[in-house]
Amino acid sequence: MSRLEQSVFRERREQLVNVMGANAIAIIATRDEMYRNRDADYKYRADSSFYYLTGFAEPEAVAVLETDENGDYSYTLFCRERHREMEIWTGFRAGIEGALADYGADQAFSIEDLDDEIIVFLLNKERLFVRFGQTKKFDVRVGEWCNQAQKQQRQGGGAPQQMIQLDSILDEMRLIKSAEEIELMQIAGQISAKAHLRAMQTVYPGMMEYQLEAELNYVFGQHGCVPSYNTIVGGGANGCILHYVENDQPLKDGDLVLIDAGCEYQYYAGDITRTFPVNGKFSGEQKALYDIILSAQLAAIDATRVGQHYRYPHEIVCKIFTEGLVDLGILSGEINELIETEAYKQFYMHGTGHWLGMDVHDVGNYKQHGEWRPYESGMVVTVEPGLYIQADDETVAERWRGIGIRIEDDILVTKDGPHVLTSDVIKSIDDIEHFMKHN
Ligand code: GLY
Ligand code: MN
Ligand code: MN
Repeated sequence: MSRLEQSVFRERREQLVNVMGANAIAIIATRDEMYRNRDADYKYRADSSFYYLTGFAEPEAVAVLETDENGDYSYTLFCRERHREMEIWTGFRAGIEGALADYGADQAFSIEDLDDEIIVFLLNKERLFVRFGQTKKFDVRVGEWCNQAQKQQRQGGGAPQQMIQLDSILDEMRLIKSAEEIELMQIAGQISAKAHLRAMQTVYPGMMEYQLEAELNYVFGQHGCVPSYNTIVGGGANGCILHYVENDQPLKDGDLVLIDAGCEYQYYAGDITRTFPVNGKFSGEQKALYDIILSAQLAAIDATRVGQHYRYPHEIVCKIFTEGLVDLGILSGEINELIETEAYKQFYMHGTGHWLGMDVHDVGNYKQHGEWRPYESGMVVTVEPGLYIQADDETVAERWRGIGIRIEDDILVTKDGPHVLTSDVIKSIDDIEHFMKHN
């Protein structure tokens, strides 16, 4: 069961129902189980939005929220029935009894009966809220249910005439984190930070990238966590490959290693990147680039403030990068013109961050009415600038080539300014060198 009280999930359902208004219905399915290969499945992880509303982690479940003319609502959960034999093979099921007793459902039915039972729920509702586009299969099923309800028109029935994308409401709810969510995200940040510190402690020249990945996984596992996305451990020029996940090369003396890794704790993601020397000591070139990235990252974090627009930290990073690259002779030209023409994109080709929450690239619009939206208290965003000088980039002096550096932290926006959820892991050159020397 979740660390969160059932009342948290109930409050979320109530918040959604208030937006839905009277005489409406919402249907939310969890995600399907997935096979990794013949007979072996991936460990199941419920759909984030479904879990957000229900706290129910089992596969094959559909939640229905419906309001009557007075706006009163009821919550029905369709789930797997208890089944002694199946439970011996695949584990405990809450069943109908558990849905009612432990998950706050007013009614519960077997998932096997969904197609039959759901029609009555749809009859004479004005609006249907559903998450279009999750899977084709479910979109088709919803369409069929509506057709069947509509066929009952002559008996006084009828399907909802208005369909609304439920994600447009749920995503905005999830974007602003509650106190309980922040607590979980803080823990995810702390465990993720601990894993990065362990990586700094254990790395040595000749170690394989996957062995370093195993050190991070050890910390995640010790806290009952899994990685919240595929871990990147890139030594040397592999750090310039943005989504490098092979992690199968030896780490070399004199190279940096870039690690992008975070854990998922109680359905909430951490997302940290650190880059440090395999042998514990930065070279002059590595230091020069690292300094630019760290000062850009600190300035961008400081700019992540209530009322400031989403893209402002990125603009700051692009300016600091351009100035820094000109100082080092990697770019040449007039600063404003280089910014205007986005010359930095040769070395910085991604954005400075993304929303973070139950999904690592979390839900929520980045623009409103065509403009970058302002930060609000309770949002969590990553700040992750990086510079990547490709090994074969002959436009750059050889001594810079093959260096890839990113520094990433998770930032909670508060009315008192940015709060770094991942501050437990060091990032200044002095701190890293000192830490690595004494471990
Ligand atoms: N680790 C995924 C990202 O940083 O966006
Ligand atoms: Mn990220
Ligand atoms: Mn990351």
